[in-house]
Amino acid sequence: MTRSITVGQEIPVRREELARPAAAAAATPVALMELTTGFWRFKVLAAGVELGLFTALERLGGADASRIGAELGLPARPTRMLLACCTALELLERRAPGEGAGGGARYHNTPMAAQFLVEDRPHYFGGFVRYSDRYGYPGWDRLTEALRTDRPTTWDPDVQESAFVTADPALLEGFWGAMFTLSSFTAAALGEAYDFTAHRRLLDVGGGAGAFPVGLCRRYPHLRATVLDLPRVAAMARAKAAELGLEQVIEAREGDFLRDPELPGGHDVILLSMILHDWDEATGRRLLEKCYAALPSGGTVVICELVLDDDESGPPSAALMGLNMLVETRAGHNWTYAEYADWLAAAGFGPLTVLPLDAAGANAALVARKP
Ligand SMILES: C[S@@+](CC[C@H](N)C(=O)[O-])C[C@H]1O[C@@H](n2cnc3c(N)ncnc32)[C@H](O)[C@@H]1O
Repeated sequence: MTRSITVGQEIPVRREELARPAAAAAATPVALMELTTGFWRFKVLAAGVELGLFTALERLGGADASRIGAELGLPARPTRMLLACCTALELLERRAPGEGAGGGARYHNTPMAAQFLVEDRPHYFGGFVRYSDRYGYPGWDRLTEALRTDRPTTWDPDVQESAFVTADPALLEGFWGAMFTLSSFTAAALGEAYDFTAHRRLLDVGGGAGAFPVGLCRRYPHLRATVLDLPRVAAMARAKAAELGLEQVIEAREGDFLRDPELPGGHDVILLSMILHDWDEATGRRLLEKCYAALPSGGTVVICELVLDDDESGPPSAALMGLNMLVETRAGHNWTYAEYADWLAAAGFGPLTVLPLDAAGANAALVARKP
């Protein structure tokens, strides 16, 4: 088939012409090439965030390549490449110029970029992208060393107490903001999967800025919640509750769930979200014993995590988050369903109920009651 193309006209490409039979795909290194170059995709996103591309595009209401280059201070060639990648990765949408319109195609944020990558938006996620670029990426670059030494590589355990001691408080603030966004979506999934109607008071152990209490107390208006976290983080949770007008509903308490002999009482449901994967088995077991001791009879513990299958074959999100715990913690691990079931039973809890969750921060809620 021949096509006549006039100069400047968009060339339509029929995607099916490019498709290969599935059988042939199995015998090619396509999947390996994708694995090998996976970091290219992350670095495109990280560069877009660092340059303020998405924030600028929202402010400008979309723009063409030359305007974007001028706005970001980039030469024409790399601007064109960056825009092509962001469009291919569905961070940007490219709109061809209309009939007779001057200038080139215009670029706009996709709905995902507009919601999560524009600074000062309530769901801004760029803080996590920046944190990952600055700490996670160089740490993962030393993965083989982490595997050989069984030590974190994003921070030095001989020098620091934890990953959260950094010289850059602004970066850390951004990380917490993004964690709040991520967990807000896990909280929505949890509120859907598990009915909190029968509960009155929630204790969120290591609750961060309070994404779960905010989401759950809004969904279940009779519920009251306490966030327990280290002093600096509890202050963030307090500020967040006040900012959202929830200071009468959510209390933030300073505490150390490792050193304090017991957890605060007076709650009938205790949540541990992305806590147990940070620590070793003995610490996890001890923490569940403290939850058991703090709950009344009939009280419930809820664990939200990316849980590893018992045969340790996946899912990839849990396996990779587990390896991230090697890079980022002293002794953390993404534990299996069987391990959590064993720890809960040993702490005295009744049978475990597994509620699947479809969220980036957790694939399941593990629920158990104190008899
Ligand atoms: C991975 S974050 C999880 C935050 C929150 N649960 C969520 O899912 O969004 C781990 C949390 O544990 C808190 N944390 C770490 N060590 C702690 C300790 N010893 N006592 C209290 N909180 C602690 C951190 O400050 C942080 O908020």
